[in-house]
Amino acid sequence: MEKLVNTSKNIHDKIFSKMTRHFDRASIKKVIDAGSGKISASILLKYFPNAELDAIIYPGDNRKKNPLENAIGSDRLNVIEADICHTTFRKHYDFCLVHLSLGEARHFDNSFEDLFHNIMQIKASYFLIIDIFEDPCVHFRYLEQYIKEKDFTILKKKKFKNPKPEHYPKVKIDKYKLEFDSKHFMAYLIKNDSMDK
Ligand SMILES: C[S@@+](CC[C@H](N)C(=O)[O-])C[C@H]1O[C@@H](n2cnc3c(N)ncnc32)[C@H](O)[C@@H]1O
Repeated sequence: MEKLVNTSKNIHDKIFSKMTRHFDRASIKKVIDAGSGKISASILLKYFPNAELDAIIYPGDNRKKNPLENAIGSDRLNVIEADICHTTFRKHYDFCLVHLSLGEARHFDNSFEDLFHNIMQIKASYFLIIDIFEDPCVHFRYLEQYIKEKDFTILKKKKFKNPKPEHYPKVKIDKYKLEFDSKHFMAYLIKNDSMDK
């Protein structure tokens, strides 16, 4: 029996469900969670019942590894410790989720741009990127410009209100410490046009 975190009342579940509404979810077989955790992994395993999931976490990130291994019991889940900025993923995926990972780039001494570029090198047919609209570490304008200039198409872009905003008191950016409240989430569903060629 598969054990997942119950995410049904969770805003992240609602965002995922709305953004993938028109997908043939049963046909999705290979999925990667680029920056995983028990919430995103549970949502992916729930909505893609026939998929195998590679859940990527930064090497030694036990904040995520232990909950992933303890809260989820599934033969479909492979937890992989790898620095996305220094790994070439050779496998082809149907779907890549990037859920609240971009804001953490600096936590592991990577820039936003470096992590974002490396994620977009993953050979996935579709990407779903979700992050906190107010997070000063996530450069949404840069992301949109990059997507427009490269071989990708934004299929859906939507801003969601967070019913339970959290306060982030000390986000370090260079020599500054900034604070913000997570009042909204931005979500982008992106097609990788280079996978059709
Ligand atoms: C805020 S957590 C994401 C939570 C998760 N998506 C969820 O919803 O439960 C950020 C994740 O990104 C991962 N991460 C950040 N930078 C990374 C990198 N360079 N390589 C691999 N994983 C990275 C962290 O290890 C962590 O798993």
